[in-house]
Amino acid sequence: MKKIIAANWKNNGSKDFVKDFFNYFLKNINCNNEIVIFPPDLYINQVNEYRDKENFNLGSQKLNQRNDETYTSGNNSEMFIDVGCSYILVGHSEVRIVAEEDVVNNLFYTNNLQAIFCVGENEDEKNSGNAQIKLSNQLDLLCKKEMYPNVKPKKAIIAYEPVWAIGTGNIPKIDDISFMHNFIKTYVSENHPFLKEKDIMVLYGGSVNSKNAEEILSAPYVDGVLIGGASLDAKEFAKICNLKI
Ligand code: PGA
Repeated sequence: MKKIIAANWKNNGSKDFVKDFFNYFLKNINCNNEIVIFPPDLYINQVNEYRDKENFNLGSQKLNQRNDETYTSGNNSEMFIDVGCSYILVGHSEVRIVAEEDVVNNLFYTNNLQAIFCVGENEDEKNSGNAQIKLSNQLDLLCKKEMYPNVKPKKAIIAYEPVWAIGTGNIPKIDDISFMHNFIKTYVSENHPFLKEKDIMVLYGGSVNSKNAEEILSAPYVDGVLIGGASLDAKEFAKICNLKI
């Protein structure tokens, strides 16, 4: 299976940034991995112009709270598909801090977008030995039958992002990443109403860069990476995309 290399640009970018990024990036990628880029919503259309069938896929960082057309300020899943997206990030820790309840709505309304469902423990939970409890609580939402009223999922993609590793330059030991990914795959396959272990991909996120990506991507149970800071540097991001794992 192809590894997923996903770029989460967060709240960064401008029209000039997008132009400069793709001027470099498109000339310098030569890769067999699946690339997914999550720009801020305002730049999705511009980024989509650089998309040529299979060179990369596009996603939004967040659905609005509802898919309800009477809701002011909404973008629904059909609109994201209309402008070229096939992915949606759900439950990133930075979003959960502001509005945990949005995560439920976002997951419920993903419809034909492929969710990348983010989970991860914070530093206190890690130090008190409660990381697995935290992850299982977060994963329970993904495993609820009610979350799939319209479309039965064929696969789940989960991003394991320890909160203490995001943007800090610290990453867990490689064995610990494998351990947690295996835990996630087992937990979801045992509890999900529709999916088996082969249908579940787990990406690692948190301080991934071109120096540590190869070791992380080569570790057992790691199906890809979700990259924040390092994905804003076209050179750095292209290097990671081009890894042959
Ligand atoms: P980082 O962010 O790579 O800058 O640590 C990852 C993320 O928040 O998805």
